Amino acid sequence: MIRTLAAGAAIAMTLAILPATMPRAAEPTDPQVVARTDAMKTIGRNMRVLGDMAKGSAAFDAAAAQEAAAAVAAEAAAIPALFEDPAQDPASESRPVIWEQYDDFTAKAADLERAASGAASQITAAADLGPAMGAIGATCKACHSTYRE
Ligand code: HEC
Repeated sequence: MIRTLAAGAAIAMTLAILPATMPRAAEPTDPQVVARTDAMKTIGRNMRVLGDMAKGSAAFDAAAAQEAAAAVAAEAAAIPALFEDPAQDPASESRPVIWEQYDDFTAKAADLERAASGAASQITAAADLGPAMGAIGATCKACHSTYRE
């Protein structure tokens, strides 16, 4: 019961940070900024695959869930290179503090990579989705709260 509640809360929290319906003033045009927001969109899309299964709006499919988590891990591994150039764009949501403490920023990317690759090897049943999303979602939030507008 407690585990179920905790997993439900973790799913709700993770879904809340997926800005699927968040209005956005403009899309970035700077190629470097487009590359990093595309990576984040891919991460978001794959998290939604897990979220849909967790909510029951998609049937549980262990291989597809593992693939989605592995895709998140692969994008996370690319974050340090994608953000290295402090390119700016009026539509970017990156805070300049990223480049003042880049080591901490990339450590947070490594936390995501670890959580997602752990999930990729651990999700074998629908009951694993909630804890996996909780673990991954905590790392999204840890980075966004400091580094994203
Ligand atoms: C290491 C830091 C970091 C981690 C970890 C991280 N993000 Fe992000 N994310 C950012 C930053 C910075 C931006 C803003 C990028 C910009 O606009 O320049 C962003 C933007 C986004 C966007 C908006 C993309 C767009 O359309 O512009 C989504 C969606 C997103 N992140 C989802 C996630 C999810 C889901 C996770 C966890 C599975 C996650 N992020 C983990 C730093 C991170």
